[in-house]
Amino acid sequence: MKNATEHRSLFEAALSAAANAYAPYSRFRVGAALLTEDGKVVTGVNVENRSFGLTNCAERSAVFAAVSSGIRKFSAIAIATPDSDYPVGPCGACRQVLSEFMSAETPVIFGPDFERSVETSVGALYPFDSLHELAGK
Ligand code: THU
Repeated sequence: MKNATEHRSLFEAALSAAANAYAPYSRFRVGAALLTEDGKVVTGVNVENRSFGLTNCAERSAVFAAVSSGIRKFSAIAIATPDSDYPVGPCGACRQVLSEFMSAETPVIFGPDFERSVETSVGALYPFDSLHELAGK
């Protein structure tokens, strides 16, 4: 049950982070929380822009924040979408970015709240990954 407890608290961190989302255009707040291999939590939120294409998703914000502080190894990610009533999974671009830094087995938990969350993996969300052997270490 260690994972279930860990995943619940990781999800709660994502949910708290979602309060900081900058989403005045979609009004769809997203928070992401990464569990680092040494047990820290790094969060990110979606940051929109009036030039819509510049929007950064919560998942990529979290990964970029972690990498910017020197962290590249993660053991799970949780994504909270409190404005949806069903689990909203990461977009295609974010799946590619998650695959850069996480193994196929890494758990991905997402939902509007923990009770309605689903748990899957980076490999299930991004199958037939190619060129992973080129990924920087
Ligand atoms: N969004 C994320 O941040 N992550 C997801 O997994 C789905 C979509 C953001 C992008 C945009 O700010 C808003 O949610 C609506 O698409």
